[in-house]
Amino acid sequence: MTVAYASGKVILFGEHAVVYGYPAIAVPVTEVQAQAWVEPGPGGQGVVVVAPDLGRRVVVREAADDDPLARIVRLTLQAMRRTVEPDLTITVTSTVPIARGMGSGAAVSTAIVRALAGHFHHWFPSRAISDLVYQTEILYHGTPSGIDNTVIAFEKPVYFIKDRGWEIFWVGKPFRLVIADTGIMSSTREVVSDVRRRYQSAPDQYRSLFERIGQIAVAARTAIQQGDLDAMAALMDENHALLQEIGVSCPELDRLVTAAREGGALGAKLSGAGRGGNMIALVTEETEGRVSMMLRLTGATHVIATEVR
Ligand code: PMV
Repeated sequence: MTVAYASGKVILFGEHAVVYGYPAIAVPVTEVQAQAWVEPGPGGQGVVVVAPDLGRRVVVREAADDDPLARIVRLTLQAMRRTVEPDLTITVTSTVPIARGMGSGAAVSTAIVRALAGHFHHWFPSRAISDLVYQTEILYHGTPSGIDNTVIAFEKPVYFIKDRGWEIFWVGKPFRLVIADTGIMSSTREVVSDVRRRYQSAPDQYRSLFERIGQIAVAARTAIQQGDLDAMAALMDENHALLQEIGVSCPELDRLVTAAREGGALGAKLSGAGRGGNMIALVTEETEGRVSMMLRLTGATHVIATEVR
């Protein structure tokens, strides 16, 4: 049996604007993970993916072309030049919350690629894994920027510009984030297409909002590299205000952001597509406990802390 893992992620800066070619920053969150086990299955069954959390059992050879679990298996086998379908059972579980902006789809796909590669003693560079996973992100998200598959496959902080490339960059001083879940599922695909409609009806206004978000991501990269927490915090607050203007926040996210600040967070913002999902707060060791408590009291369904390094 071969087991492989993949972390979740959060977007620190630049969501939505990244879809329009502006830079964004994302970091892995190793406290939540997807796992995939590969083991030999009964002769003649082909590849079967079992995902108990999702209540799914996918027989790859019978699955529709747009089934993401089947697609990642097919693509991975092709990339390893396996022309004969092996008899395998792949079991997938995940602690990455679904549809909350933490990259659950990309984490599951990445764990499957890694587990299949491990099973066949094949080595994929992170870049190849990222490219394979992107093909399933299209099914989940419609027009994904590619930031999720990149940060999850490389498991490092990334500075990302759609279609132009990405860089792994170094964090000047490790910092702590509290991540709190509104408990509301949000479809990235729907939020992204709603933003596109709004952009099409007011292109100048939206372009200038995206541009300002892009400038924030540029400044944030420098702040992170210099370990300047105060600058990062101010940029997070500013980024949240712009996401509110874009129309992707919601009362639950705003309440958590306010509660985090009241609890002593240096800065806070929504993370990911918005209209539900998660928010993030920049904290210190001293404020982490209080911020987490405030977030729970304000209705967060899950609160985790992570260190970015
Ligand atoms: O909710 P998430 O983390 O999948 O984030 C989506 C981020 C967007 O910028 C809104 C879309 C994208 O493809 O980058």
